[in-house]
Amino acid sequence: MKVIITKNHAESCQKTAAIMADIINNQTKPVLGLATGGTAEQVYAELVQLHQSKKLSFKNTATVNLDEYVGLAPDHDQSYRYFMNFHLFNKVDIDLKNTYVPLGNTDPITELKAFQEKLASTPRHFQLLGVGPNGHIAFNEPSATLHADAHIVNIADATIEANARYFASKNDVPKTAFTQGMGDILKAECLALLATGANKADAMKKMLLSDEVTTEYPCTFLKTHPNCIIFIDQALADLIGYKG
Ligand code: PGA
Repeated sequence: MKVIITKNHAESCQKTAAIMADIINNQTKPVLGLATGGTAEQVYAELVQLHQSKKLSFKNTATVNLDEYVGLAPDHDQSYRYFMNFHLFNKVDIDLKNTYVPLGNTDPITELKAFQEKLASTPRHFQLLGVGPNGHIAFNEPSATLHADAHIVNIADATIEANARYFASKNDVPKTAFTQGMGDILKAECLALLATGANKADAMKKMLLSDEVTTEYPCTFLKTHPNCIIFIDQALADLIGYKG
């Protein structure tokens, strides 16, 4: 695992977008694993800017997302499909047929099988990651056991709490989600996790201040990946006492 302390989150996003652009420009059929969430928004803004300045085309790129709420239609403004279309897909020249976000409003068992098959047939060159305040990765929530494969999960109370800001009320946050499993995530050739904000301090302490791997902090499994980059901004590094 390589850790890069950046001067701020904007720099973390620029550096991550540069890695992604490099993969898109150098692979014949680039496949990117994508993430939603506040942390990722500026990464997508950087990619859109590169596209608008004619430095990047997504024509040959395929994408697979980490997760989706069960029950939300693609046009629901809190669905992860909506997020991806809004922040990236509708602003670049990607073919929407080459983008995969699990479909939230169909039979969950059928959709889970389709998601698993998609992951098995679509190896990723890269996976973008945020981290939850409780250390979750995608919707792999802290637990005595984790899953290797894509599955449907009961979203942890702490995550419902953290995501309630996007919904009219906490009760409107869906209780279950499709998520890639830890094994799916660790199969990507290269991973980049970005962390910013005081609410990520606990998770980042477990990531950076010890070599322990524990299902109580799913993010710690990234320590076992041979090509994982952690971008942490200076403010958060200072807060947890990480000096590099
Ligand atoms: P955030 O979410 O980027 O909105 O903080 C990250 C996550 O929960 O994985």
